[in-house]
Amino acid sequence: MAENISEQRQGWRDFLEGELYTDAQAPWRDDPAFALLLQVPGLRESIGGRATAALNQAIGLVRALARVDLLEGVRTHRPAQGLCLGFGMNALEPYDLLQVFALERVDAYEWIGEHIVEAAQMLQALRAEAALLPTRIRLHHGTISDLSAIADGAIRVAYVANVFTPEIPMTAETFARALREIVRVLAVGGILLSRGSSGTFETELTQYGRMLLQTPLISVFEKAP
Ligand SMILES: C[S@@+](CC[C@H](N)C(=O)[O-])C[C@H]1O[C@@H](n2cnc3c(N)ncnc32)[C@H](O)[C@@H]1O
Repeated sequence: MAENISEQRQGWRDFLEGELYTDAQAPWRDDPAFALLLQVPGLRESIGGRATAALNQAIGLVRALARVDLLEGVRTHRPAQGLCLGFGMNALEPYDLLQVFALERVDAYEWIGEHIVEAAQMLQALRAEAALLPTRIRLHHGTISDLSAIADGAIRVAYVANVFTPEIPMTAETFARALREIVRVLAVGGILLSRGSSGTFETELTQYGRMLLQTPLISVFEKAP
């Protein structure tokens, strides 16, 4: 019985893909933006809220304005893998992405360890309803500038909210690497939904495909062949 309770308490670890580092051991510990985000938790407050409404709104707008059915694009490419970047305190962002697009799996990245643990514990609470959830949501304690755990062209739908914004510190090197990595892992015809960006990120993306939607609140990019 005691063993069962202890297993349940540790069950959140099943959601982790790869290592969980201490702040001092993290491979990205020398990135000045990481140090600043650690020192000033206010900078990583969850400003996006639950992602479901925003994702559904983007799907509706793209259908109406660009005449593209994003859900159909996912349905015709099975199994479909998603990617969620910098979920921070918004622990259910990866879950919302999984549900809205009915994906088989979502890989989610965040470099602040405490948010990885919070998200894993919150997902563990949902496991009673969805026993296979740890195979469908994989949490990576990592920087978005190194997505080497993800194969080229593996991702059908990516989501990033309030990460590429002037309020969140990011070095030019991390920005350039993250952009390169995102483009590498997106499938041809794969999409990226970005929220709360300054616009620089979307401008850079257009070299690699087209914008299906560009509004101050949310943008949708599709990767070209
Ligand atoms: C303002 S929060 C946004 C959280 C959530 N996406 C939302 O919209 O509410 C930005 C998050 O991005 C994370 N972040 C910033 N740069 C990152 C990087 N290079 N690698 C991984 N996570 C990063 C921060 O740690 C923080 O949790």
